Amino acid sequence: NSDGDVQRDLDVQADAILRRCLSKVPVAALASEEMREAQIGDREAKICIAIDPLDGSSNIDINMTVGTIFSILPAPDDLALAFHQRGSAQLAAGFVTYGPQTSLVLTLGEGVDIFTLDRKAGCFRLARAAAQIAETCEEFAINASNRRHWDSPVRAFVDECLAGVEGPANHNFNMRWVGSLVAEAYRILTRGGVFLYPSDARPGYGDGRLRLVYEAHPMAMIIEQAGGSATTGRERILDLSAQSLHQRVPLIMGSSNEVRRVEELHCDPLLVASVSAPLFARRGFFRL
Ligand code: AHG
Ligand code: MN
Ligand code: MN
Repeated sequence: NSDGDVQRDLDVQADAILRRCLSKVPVAALASEEMREAQIGDREAKICIAIDPLDGSSNIDINMTVGTIFSILPAPDDLALAFHQRGSAQLAAGFVTYGPQTSLVLTLGEGVDIFTLDRKAGCFRLARAAAQIAETCEEFAINASNRRHWDSPVRAFVDECLAGVEGPANHNFNMRWVGSLVAEAYRILTRGGVFLYPSDARPGYGDGRLRLVYEAHPMAMIIEQAGGSATTGRERILDLSAQSLHQRVPLIMGSSNEVRRVEELHCDPLLVASVSAPLFARRGFFRL
């Protein structure tokens, strides 16, 4: 696609299906991961929609959960600015997971509800109302194969998680990495957790991997509406507005205590130094 990712057949088909369905409803502007530019539709319509038609498409071949992410924004007077609004302007956001269940996670700005597809009846049924993410979690998710490319605050945070009861977190963590943002978000909504796709030193990853308009913004709205937090490490995701449609952004989201700890580590180099210095570690030389 325009962003340099390899497009799979199902990426293209999912994009075509969603665009066909959305052509039947009043949408002022539509943006998709699979389209270079946003498309102007019904100029009288009140909303604009941004979609990641198929998230996690590298997981298709291995039969893992994939999904669809969407963000709904108010239509501004100048439609050229439709997808340059702050994340906090979103009217609604959601995602669908295609896994053991087909689930719809939806926020209209007043909490998050989770629905399961009833295939026989052809509708989604409410499975969990007002989903809440616990403040503290015991599970983190990051692609640890990139460890050598991470900045020191991210390394320090993961080191704290790995140190478990012997580190400052004072409890053990489990680890997961699905490689589908939708599945990671669903898990966090179900049992808490923290997800990190930070920037790293690989060429092209200076702003991480995930896209602001149709991945990070909708996920941040959902996670915040469920009581969690979403940040780049330095800024709240919902305070950001995109300079370009396919702009990438570091995304750290989930249980608010762990997300706050990641922010603390980004803002305080001395803290990072103290975590990284073995002499001051919990079992170190100078610690009582
Ligand atoms: P997409 O399939 O829409 O391009 O998104 C894939 C994203 C996201 O779902 C996942 O968290 C991340 O890419 C996985 O990246 P790595 O392969 O670098 O782990
Ligand atoms: Mn995606
Ligand atoms: Mn995609």
